[in-house]
Amino acid sequence: MTGLGEWLAPALTAPLAQEMGSFWLPPKSSTVAPAVDTIFNLIFWISVVFFVGIVLVMVVFLFKYRRRPGVTQKPAPTHNTILELTWSGIPLLLVVVIFYTSYRVYLDMTTPPQNAYEVLVHAQKWSWSFTYPNGYIDENLHVPVDKPVRLVMSSEDVIHSLYVPAFRIKMDVVPGRYTKAWFQATEPGEYVIFCTEYCGTGHSDMLATVYVHEPGEFEKWLEDAARFAANLSPAERGERAYVKLGCVGCHSMDGSAKTGPTFKGIFGETHRFTNASPVEVDENYIRESILNPSAKVREGYADQMNSYKKSLDDGTLTEEDISDLIEYIKTLK
Ligand code: CUA
Repeated sequence: MTGLGEWLAPALTAPLAQEMGSFWLPPKSSTVAPAVDTIFNLIFWISVVFFVGIVLVMVVFLFKYRRRPGVTQKPAPTHNTILELTWSGIPLLLVVVIFYTSYRVYLDMTTPPQNAYEVLVHAQKWSWSFTYPNGYIDENLHVPVDKPVRLVMSSEDVIHSLYVPAFRIKMDVVPGRYTKAWFQATEPGEYVIFCTEYCGTGHSDMLATVYVHEPGEFEKWLEDAARFAANLSPAERGERAYVKLGCVGCHSMDGSAKTGPTFKGIFGETHRFTNASPVEVDENYIRESILNPSAKVREGYADQMNSYKKSLDDGTLTEEDISDLIEYIKTLK
């Protein structure tokens, strides 16, 4: 890490600057956060000074040089070397300082340490999933405190963006390629993850949590979570698949309508469709709705769901997941 925070801090530790920092963003909880805030405050205050200064001078000149009877306009001077050097030199100096300080922090933020712990991040409309080195998949991001964590991220469908305000990190998650981000959390606790790239109807619901564990507790959590997942019943596995595969983004389990219809109480119901005759919800109908959602579009809903056929082909969705999901839906009475 650079000593940039310390280097610039004395100039910016004015109480007002600190208050503005916490007005915009939650308390700093990662190693890069202080440097990011310092640059944010630097640019913010440069902007404030120039905005106020320019508006003040404009207002003063409006009065001072307004047209009055008996005063004739003098020809404007054509050239003033000192003035022109000043108004070019000061902004040049400022942008060089902004570039230099930002670039150093940018390099830090884009270069994960060699020993970083790696978590795979999967984004889809409209949920996140996190895969740990032992193969365990969770809908939230769990990490150890004071250890560098690297995120290797990809998207199933459109461009999303992972944003953890408390860590001051933000990175696009793009289909067809991998993007990376890293952080080192400094405080145990829970922090919110936002999707910060507009990705459709459920964008604002595309949330997850970072759980930063106390020293030693992360390893224990991961072991327990993986062992727990291995001993579940089909319906319990189905509930996890419901989250892992992202069904949760569009289908509620409490009866409320989201982008898609709820899963509650549907098994055995007869559904009406805009493009097919009514059928009773059974195992085959659910399987078809996962792999070919456009075949039967529920009345009152748009044909919006992506097919999971591709996921079945590439192994991210298994036939077992589908039967687990069906068992889970059966339990939602
Ligand atoms: Cu995903 Cu916005």
